[in-house]
Parts: sequence; structure tokens; C-alpha cells
Amino acid sequence: MTRARERSSILSPQNDLHMPNFERSEPRLRLVSNAERPAQTPPRESGAANLGTFEGRSLSHDHLLVDFDQLRRGLYISGQPRVGKSTAILRLALHDFAQGRGACVVDPDGELINGIIERLPPRNQADLDRVIVFDPANLEWPIGIDLLDAKDSFEEDYAIQFMNELIERITPWFARGPILSQIIRNAMRLLFENGGRLTDISQILTSPAAVKQRLGAVTDPLLRRYWEHVWPMLIKGGDGPSTVAYVTSKFSQFVEDRCLRNIFGQRGGLDFRRVIDEGQLLLVDLARGTLGSQRAQFLGLIVLHCLERAVMRAPASTRGGFSVYLDEVHEFDVENLRRMITAFPKKHAALVMANQSADDLGIRLREAILGSVANFLVFRQGLDAASRLEALTQPRFDDRDLMSLKDHHAVYRGDTTGPRRVGRVALSPPPRVLHDARIVAEIRQRAATSIGKEKWMVEAMMVASLASDK
Ligand SMILES: Nc1ncnc2c1ncn2[C@@H]1O[C@H](COP(=O)(O)OP(=O)(O)O)[C@@H](O)[C@H]1O
Ligand SMILES: [Mg+2]
Repeated sequence: MTRARERSSILSPQNDLHMPNFERSEPRLRLVSNAERPAQTPPRESGAANLGTFEGRSLSHDHLLVDFDQLRRGLYISGQPRVGKSTAILRLALHDFAQGRGACVVDPDGELINGIIERLPPRNQADLDRVIVFDPANLEWPIGIDLLDAKDSFEEDYAIQFMNELIERITPWFARGPILSQIIRNAMRLLFENGGRLTDISQILTSPAAVKQRLGAVTDPLLRRYWEHVWPMLIKGGDGPSTVAYVTSKFSQFVEDRCLRNIFGQRGGLDFRRVIDEGQLLLVDLARGTLGSQRAQFLGLIVLHCLERAVMRAPASTRGGFSVYLDEVHEFDVENLRRMITAFPKKHAALVMANQSADDLGIRLREAILGSVANFLVFRQGLDAASRLEALTQPRFDDRDLMSLKDHHAVYRGDTTGPRRVGRVALSPPPRVLHDARIVAEIRQRAATSIGKEKWMVEAMMVASLASDK
């Protein structure tokens, strides 16, 4: 097909007389020709986000508009530093916010989050109340994440599965095994039964009195049997103390790290379902410089789990969609991210992932992204990365084209149920900054004071809980 024909079939729906086909939904990427609107009128962002202009002889001045239906098939953004990846995310997230759609941006650097806050449209109070900044480095006002806040047994199983995956990640392979996961499962079940916190796990493992107290009202015979017969057997004899020490060490991150303890030691806190249902903008600031990379990664994985759980459980009817943005996605290379890539499109949720190079992704995550995602924004690539991604953009753009892209220029490829679209895009510059540092700090602190609790309160509650188990 010549480029001219390709263009006319996309640009001229009136030439393409057919009834709407809802089985094979129409491609959502639209190239809007200047001829279709009055001169000088910038394209409106009513339904679709405007990312930039297509370049090339036949496509000149046509805009890359990506609407939510296209985006929920997934978008992967890749390219060298400072080419404009985070700025593309910034535009999309601000667009979600303007549309009242729920969105979550997870930013391992912190710069993107501030960039978004600086540009939030100044509207009314209610609008700003939709913005939640989760900043674990705000030690004075920690916002809680309650992993044990499961609404039903499905969510409980999800949380248990995740905790096993998480513990497995920090456990050398030779020390993993069914006994460890059995302990985790039963400890979490016991906490689910009577409203415990994650930080209480080490208490359960070390204090028979705490177990006895928590078992009081438990009716599940298997759970009772485990704590009354199996666990005492495991810790009996000479190996007992080392078994307890071994298992509690797995949870020491939650209990001993003061920053994490004050987040996971709270009951309630950040409600991920509300973010979806009420169209909030959740900005997760994992500034590695401040938090340390291990802690940031740990928090990132937990946020990811909470997002997955919320999306999987939210009924499609109550939502106008939900978007999740993961900058520096190689930091989140876990099983549940791979599940999210395939499950989100069916759940009316968009997953947008960005990082420098597809080479930095683990093999399985890379396969999941390159195999299942429908949209790609490929900025300038290094040598190895270019040869990996050229299969996506050929025959129009080969590895040399991808290596010689200018800053803020990218090759967009979008797969729809119709034909594949590939074109070179000049990305729009970031929107104007609207708020100074004082306002940004105010917006950041708002959620902390409304959802979070003051540090002394959280610590006092934990001390009280420990005392009651004596
Ligand atoms: N289309 C653009 N036009 C002009 N400047 C841009 C554009 N996109 C991004 N920038 C600027 O370039 C710099 C790097 O952008 P950023 O999105 O942070 O890159 P990356 O995430 O790829 O490292 C930022 O200062 C940003 O404001
Ligand atoms: Mg960036």
C-alpha cells in the first residue's frame, strides 16, 4: 500500500463507507489532518491525548492522538536518557486527570512526579483533592499501605500469593521451600481473621501468647490445627530457635526499617480502589536518592501488587478506565507485572511502561512487553537496543534510523485490530509550569495530612499493640 493511500484511508472515514463493526473494533489511533479543522485551531484533547505531530512528507502536521481504548492495549516507551520519555508520560497522566480518569504514576526518580504537580490545572479545591502524593520519604506523616486490608477471600489469596513471591525474591533459591510458604500463608490467614497488621507477623512467630490470643475467635479448623499443632512441632527441639529466627528475618524489612514499619504498621491508609472509582491521580514518589534503591524497589513492588489487586477486583461498570504509568519499568520485573500486561486490557486499564533500553529488561518481561503490548514509542536507541527494537519499526525504520533520531523525536508503532501504523513523531514540549515550589510542596503535603498519620501516632499504636500481646 502506498503511503498516500494509507493516509487517505485513515484520514477519510467518509470514503470508507461501512457500518460500525463492534466485533473488530476500529483502530483508535487517529491522524487528524489540518484540512479537517480550521487553521490555527490546536487539536482538542477531548477524548484523546495529543502527543505530538507526525513527520514525513505525506503525514506532515498530522497529530498523534492516542485515546484510552488504544492505550489500554498497553504502551512501551523506550529511549536514551533525556530524549523525552518521562515527558510523554507526564502528558498522558495530565490528560487522564483532565478527563477525570483514575491514574497512578510510579516514579523511581521523583522528577516526573514534581513535573506533573507543577502543571496540574489550577481549578477548584475538589479537583486538587483528587491528587494523592505517596511519598515514603515523608517520615513525619507516613501514609499507610495495608496489605492485609482484603475485602474477601479472593483478595486474601492474592495477598498471600504476592507475599510468597516477595519473600521468594529476597530468599536464596536453596533456602526456599514449601515450609516457608506454609508459614507465610498461615501467619497471614491468622492476621486476616482478626485484623492484624503486617508488622505483627514477627510477633505471631515469636510469641505463643500472641498466637493464643489471636486464635481465640478463629473457627477455621485447619488454621487452628496449624497454630496449635503444626507450628509448635516445627519450633520444638534444638532447631526451633533457628527456624523462628530464619522466618522472622524474612519479615525484618517490615519491622526493623523505621520508614517501612510506619507505612505497613498502619491499619487502613491508601485505598487503591478509591483511586480507581473516584478518578484520583496517585503519584508514587520512590525517589531512590532519598529512599535507597532497595527500599524503593521493595515499596514499588508492593504498590504494584496493590494496583493489580484493585484493578482485578474493580467492576468494569463503575470505571471510566484507569491508567498505570511505570517509569524505569525494569525496576519492577516481577511475576505480577507480567500478569498485569496481559490482564489489564481486559480490565479496562492501561499499562504504560518506560525505560532506557529493552536490553535492561529481564528476558521474560521483555517477551511479555514485545509480545503483548500494542503501542510503542521508540526514541533514540543505543546500538544493542536498536537492533532489538527494529523488528517493530521495519520496514520503514531500521536500526540506523532508530539510532539517529533527534531528541524529542520518536518512531511510533501502533497495532490495532486493523493495519499496523508506523510513523515518525515530533513530541510536543511539556506544557507550561503553573505552580511554584511552595504550591508544589503544599500539594504534596495535602494527602499526607489527610490520609497519613503523624509519626508519633503510628508509633504509639504499634507500642500499644505490642503491649496488648504480652
Ligand atoms: N518535545 C519536547 N520538546 C522540548 N523539550 C522537551 C520535549 N520533551 C521533553 N523535553 C525536555 O527534555 C528534557 C528531558 O525530558 P525527559 O522527558 O525527562 O527525558 P527522559 O525521561 O527520556 O530522560 C526535559 O527537560 C524536558 O522538559
Ligand atoms: Mg525519565
